[in-house]
Amino acid sequence: MNNFVSMKAITADEIMYLLKQTDRFAEGELPKQEKDKKRFITNLFYEPSTRTKLSFEVAERKLGFEVIDFQVDYSSVRKGESVYDTAKTVISIGAEAIVIRHSLDNAVQKLAEQLDVPVINAGDGAGEHPTQSLLDIYTMYKEFGDLKGLNVLIVGDIIHSRVARSNAYALRTLGANVYLSSKPEWQDDRLDFPYVELDEAIEMCDVVMLLRIQSERHDQPKVVEANEYLNKYGLTIEREKRMKQNAIIMHPAPVNRDIEIDDQLVECKRSRIFKQMEYGVYARMAVLDYLLNKEGQENGDNYQTMYAHVNSY
Ligand code: CP
Repeated sequence: MNNFVSMKAITADEIMYLLKQTDRFAEGELPKQEKDKKRFITNLFYEPSTRTKLSFEVAERKLGFEVIDFQVDYSSVRKGESVYDTAKTVISIGAEAIVIRHSLDNAVQKLAEQLDVPVINAGDGAGEHPTQSLLDIYTMYKEFGDLKGLNVLIVGDIIHSRVARSNAYALRTLGANVYLSSKPEWQDDRLDFPYVELDEAIEMCDVVMLLRIQSERHDQPKVVEANEYLNKYGLTIEREKRMKQNAIIMHPAPVNRDIEIDDQLVECKRSRIFKQMEYGVYARMAVLDYLLNKEGQENGDNYQTMYAHVNSY
């Protein structure tokens, strides 16, 4: 693995290695850092972000990297510089890797094929969001251990959701049962997973993952009537009461309170929404360490060789 752009082709062993590394970083371990050697990384965010951008910055700093500040609106992107030329520029200046979010599906994959430094997808259009998926899966792993047979219900604006796509692929690789639920016009036929009625599935799922309505990706954005959407397609207090005793609520955030989920449930006992954000730092450290540190790479490769045939997944 030289880049981290998609969860579609990643193996169960690679995911398991990254989960175990995430755990190590969550417990406060840090990889060895070479004294007096400055290493640089940059985060190219062509779309807004709070969680992903800030948690990458914290992860990078914890691993000892200097973060090259880049803000699209104050860069030569505004003079028409391409993504490729921008990336080549920051690499020439000293960046060892590119973390990038872009509004076009596949823009990140294309860039990864053109560059010879690691490229990490921080979200590409309605394509994929693999580090969000890794932190989501880590949240489930912490809660339930083995993900095999876990029933995960992903609810909301499926067709525009890169989070749904990355999670569906990775969860299937790990043996979880993935169910999708959405308004008919937001179903995505390219995703080969069963669609279910929220009210029928709510009682049998271990994880209910709500998705943000991605209005910015809608061709003709409509005003969403909060009560109407919540009552038909969102997590109401009545539905939460019917969830399994140990089932958890997740949402990648930002959350539209009282639209995708009742405001009172965002921080309820079952909710792991803010835990997900906390875990995002450690999951991103695991990815950066694997791609950029010799020891991380060697450990990952050894782990995969050792466990390729015996892993329970
Ligand atoms: N979940 C997520 O990607 O949030 P941000 O857009 O704030 O990074």
